[in-house]
Amino acid sequence: MKHIDIKNIFADRSYIGQTVTVCGWVRTSRNSKTMAFIALNDGTSLNHMQIVIDKSQDISFEDALPTGTSIKVVGIVVEDQHGSVEINAQTISVIGACAPEYPLQKKRHSLEFLRTMPHLRGRTNTFNAVLRVRSIMAEALHQYFQDRNFIYVNTPLITGSDCEGAGEMFQVTTIGYSTEYKNEEEYYADDFFGRRAGLSVSGQLEGEVAAMAMGKIYTFGPSFRAENSNTPKHLAEFWHVEPEIAFAELPEVIEEAESMIKYVIRTVLDKCPEEMKFFDTHFEKGLIARLEELISNDFGICDYTEAIRLLKESGEDFQYPVEWGCDLQTEHERYISEKVFKKAVFVTNYPKEIKSFYMKQNPDGKTVAAVDLLVPGVGEIIGGSEREADYDKLVAAMEERGMNLDLYKDYLDLRRFGSVPHGGFGLGFERLIMYVTGVSNIRDVILYPRTVGSIR
Ligand code: 4AD
Repeated sequence: MKHIDIKNIFADRSYIGQTVTVCGWVRTSRNSKTMAFIALNDGTSLNHMQIVIDKSQDISFEDALPTGTSIKVVGIVVEDQHGSVEINAQTISVIGACAPEYPLQKKRHSLEFLRTMPHLRGRTNTFNAVLRVRSIMAEALHQYFQDRNFIYVNTPLITGSDCEGAGEMFQVTTIGYSTEYKNEEEYYADDFFGRRAGLSVSGQLEGEVAAMAMGKIYTFGPSFRAENSNTPKHLAEFWHVEPEIAFAELPEVIEEAESMIKYVIRTVLDKCPEEMKFFDTHFEKGLIARLEELISNDFGICDYTEAIRLLKESGEDFQYPVEWGCDLQTEHERYISEKVFKKAVFVTNYPKEIKSFYMKQNPDGKTVAAVDLLVPGVGEIIGGSEREADYDKLVAAMEERGMNLDLYKDYLDLRRFGSVPHGGFGLGFERLIMYVTGVSNIRDVILYPRTVGSIR
C-alpha cells in the first residue's frame, strides 16, 4: 500500500502543492454543513494530519468518520492557517471499519483504564509519545556504546546460575506437574537441560566473560525477575543495559554511567522536542528544564555510610527504619536524591552483606565497591560495581553465601587466566524512560507489562 509517512509531510515543505497518499487511524472527526474534518494519525508523528473534506466535491467520506477507523486518503497538501500543513482530500477509502464499542473515544482516559487494553493504548497520544521516545533512547544507547568501542553482545536468557543470588529466578522446565520423582535432584536430572535452569536476572556474568576478551562490551536485552514486588517501578520482565569494562575500577564505572545517561537525555531532548513538550505539559511541569539542568551539572556522589548519616539526621518519619547495614528503600533513595542533593546521585560502598557475591571487597572488610545511581522521582535506576578480580577472595565470598561453586566454574576461571580489574553496571531501561518522560508507573512505559499476578 504505497503511501507517505505523515511525519515526512510535516517535516518537508516541498510537499505543499503535491498530491499525496496517506494512511492512518481516525483520531477525531467533525462534520459540519459544508465541510468535514478528520484528524488522522499513522503513528509516525505525535501530530495528527488534518484531512479537509469540501462537501461540494463529490467525495464519499461518511464511513471514514468514526474514531478508530483505518483509512487511506489521497489529497493535496496545503498550508493551513497556522503555517503548518493539512490535506485537502480528493478521495477517501476505508481500510478497516471500527466497531462502535471502540473504547478510545474523544476524552482523555486515565492510565489505569488504558492499562486494561495494551493492544489499543498505543493509539493514544501518551503511548504514541512514550513508544517513540523509548525507540530513540534505545538507538541513543547503542550509538553511545558503539562510538566508544564497546562491543554489543547477546548474553543467554536461559541460564543455570543466579547472578544476583536473590532467588528471584523464573524456572525453565519442560516437565509438567508430576508426583513421579522422589526428590528435586531426580526431577531436575530428567528435565530438558539435565539440571535446574531459569530465566536470567542479569547478563552480567556472561558479560564479564565477553569483556575479558573484548575489553569493553554491553548487553541490551530482557532480564526476568520473579520478585513479588507490586510497585510502580518493578516489572517481572524488564529491559536491561549492562556495560562491562575491563581494566577499570569503580571511578571509571561511575564516569561511564554518568556520561551515558547524559548522552541519552541530550539525544532525546534534541530528537523528540514535541514528545518532550507533551510530557512537560501533561506529566511533569518543568520536565525539560529539569533534564537540561541535570545534563549540564555533575551528578552528586555520596558514600553509603554518609547517606545513612544523612537519613538518620533528616528528622523524616520513614516507614522503614534506617541503620547502618540496612538496604536503602525507595523512600530513602528518593530522600537522598530529591531532598539532599536535588539531582541524580551515586551512592557507593555498600555493606557487603546486602550486596552480591561478585562485588570487589573493600580494604575495610565491611563494604564492597558497589554503586547505585538514584534519581529524583524514581529512586534507583542503575546498580553496578567493580568486580572482585581476586580468585581467593571471590571463592571466600561465595562460600560465605553457601553457593555451589561448580555452577560458576567459567566465572571463577576468569580470575585464574589473566584476571584484570573490571566493573560495570546495569541500567533498568524502563526506569530511565520513567525518569525522562515523567511517567510515574513502569507499566506505562512498555508495550506489554509483566507484573506479579498479571500477564496478557
Ligand atoms: O541492581 P541490579 O539488580 O543489578 C544487576 O542486575 C547487576 N547484575 C547489574 C550489573 O552490574 N551488570 O539491577 C540493575 C538495574 C536496577 O538499578 C534497576 O534499574 C533495574 O536494573 N531493575 C529493574 N527494573 C524493573 N523491574 C525490576 N524488577 C528491576 N530489577 C532491577
